Amino acid sequence: MRIRLMKRVAIIYESIYGNTRQIAEEIREGIREGGNIEVRLTHPGGIHTDDLSNYDVILFGSPNHNQAPTLNLMKFIDRLAIVELENKLGTVFDTYTGGNEGIAVKKLENKIKEKLPGIKLVMEGGSFKVSGRKGPLIEGEVEKARRFGQKFREKISDEE
Ligand SMILES: Cc1cc2nc3c(=O)[nH]c(=O)nc-3n(C[C@H](O)[C@H](O)[C@H](O)COP(=O)(O)O)c2cc1C
Repeated sequence: MRIRLMKRVAIIYESIYGNTRQIAEEIREGIREGGNIEVRLTHPGGIHTDDLSNYDVILFGSPNHNQAPTLNLMKFIDRLAIVELENKLGTVFDTYTGGNEGIAVKKLENKIKEKLPGIKLVMEGGSFKVSGRKGPLIEGEVEKARRFGQKFREKISDEE
């Protein structure tokens, strides 16, 4: 009999005004819905990079700051590059205003491909719109984040 171990998922996000946190929480709920998955939600200052080797799946989320992910998150990924990460799965997400959909996401994906090749990006990143710098999220984005989490859960289950 094959004993299936519980998957461990970490979501590392940054959020100044709470909107990206809200998205991260919804994604967590979407991932957890089917049970048997433990999801840790934290920010770069809340976890030691070495600890991430204990997770099977790693997601990164950031607000778009000046057309890019936050510097703090980018630096965290630089530090993480020296940690042994192999056979991990992941994806990314951002929040943005105006016409900047997907811009920080694309940069995060490129950064991960360059610095963290042990993380396989199994799903295209998600981009969630806020109405102005402080938010709130525009209508429908919270539900979209929940669906993003559910879809991601299916993707990581397919990878077993
Ligand atoms: C310093 C700063 C720079 C920003 N630059 C951009 C930008 O270039 N493009 C954009 O779409 N949003 C920009 N924003 C708006 C953020 O995307 C928005 O504040 C964020 O999505 C809200 O997320 P949070 O509540 O998690 O902080 C900027 C916000 C700040 C604080």
